[in-house]
Amino acid sequence: MDVIFLPKSWNVDQILDDLDQHGFAIIDDVYPTDYLQALVLECTTHLNEFRAAAVQNGVISNIRSDHILWINDNLDIAQQHIDTLKQLSNTLNRYFYLGINEVEAHFACYNAGEFYTLHRDNPQGKNGRMISAVYYLHKQWQDDWGGQLHLQDKNNQWHYIHPKPNRLAIFQSDLLHEVIEAKHQRLSITAWLRSDQQLL
Ligand code: OGA
Ligand code: MN
Repeated sequence: MDVIFLPKSWNVDQILDDLDQHGFAIIDDVYPTDYLQALVLECTTHLNEFRAAAVQNGVISNIRSDHILWINDNLDIAQQHIDTLKQLSNTLNRYFYLGINEVEAHFACYNAGEFYTLHRDNPQGKNGRMISAVYYLHKQWQDDWGGQLHLQDKNNQWHYIHPKPNRLAIFQSDLLHEVIEAKHQRLSITAWLRSDQQLL
């Protein structure tokens, strides 16, 4: 098995401290740009396979209008990002005893006019999602293009986080958040670090 390390450029102490103090952390310049470019290519070549995220079991909800593609082993480039998140999970388990044992992830595409209204990824601890991690991978983003992640931190302070390319936003899955309507195509990978062990 390959041994995967967290990218050397990540300030792991800062990430742990921010998660501890605020319930979220932002990492910029996450990967070398050649990886980002390869990921953009993998995402955009599969855009025709994305499906409306709001449709579940044939039922349509109006809380979100983005389209998604779940990531599996066939998406080699995205899989490397998942491997990095598994390594991050090990680090978080060591510091916070979260018991994360699984990472699930999908690409998401918000076209102009699309949004995701206020929600929690893990309402009332009903699923195993402990930490949400959103990585932004469009080629460029300007501050007046909307599409911010609007997040309430664990001290009830609200933050607007711009979806800058090559940025990773990590937050507790029980925090309230939304995606403000995007004015341009916004591409990302949303991942959840899950703890699916049942306590007996
Ligand atoms: C989600 C989500 C935030 C973002 O997919 O559940 O809240 O910034 N995404 O894309
Ligand atoms: Mn969410």
